[in-house]
Amino acid sequence: MAGSIVLIGFMGAGKTTVGRLLAGELGLAFFDTDRAVVEASGRSIAEIWRTDGEEAFRDREHEAVKRACERPGSVIATGGGAVLAHRNLELLRIAGPIVLLEASLDTVEARLAEGATRPMFMNRTHAQREALLAERAVVYDRVCDVSVPTDGRAPDEIVIAIIEALQ
Ligand code: S3P
Repeated sequence: MAGSIVLIGFMGAGKTTVGRLLAGELGLAFFDTDRAVVEASGRSIAEIWRTDGEEAFRDREHEAVKRACERPGSVIATGGGAVLAHRNLELLRIAGPIVLLEASLDTVEARLAEGATRPMFMNRTHAQREALLAERAVVYDRVCDVSVPTDGRAPDEIVIAIIEALQ
């Protein structure tokens, strides 16, 4: 079901903030897969992860991706690990162009410094985060249709860059 725009990228790349703004700018609906998981389960991601494990979270994330892809004309902000799963990627590819929000580790660490509650990010050293970002970047680059740098850019500048990149 086409007509949507899919935002991917590492934690802290700005998918939620930018996605909401982009949706407003283009008059599209906004769908955030992380928020959908939290709303559907009534629990935080950290809590799901702690009590049920990552696999259970990934199943819930897949359900959220399916729901997102049932709504044409949305900006879909995905969790940083969503496109690693083929079952999500195949749906998201049909939903619309995949836009990678690129961010360096320094930017991500600065954005997530306060209240970092992400299980894949907290309690990890800088070197571990660096390795995860490098590993993920290979996948993000491979699956995206366009990529937009976000370092040093404000959310509204990133929105403009996305709109230009998609023209
Ligand atoms: C994850 C990223 C998070 C969230 C979960 C796992 C990941 O989303 O889905 O904590 O594996 O990168 P954000 O990218 O929105 O932080």
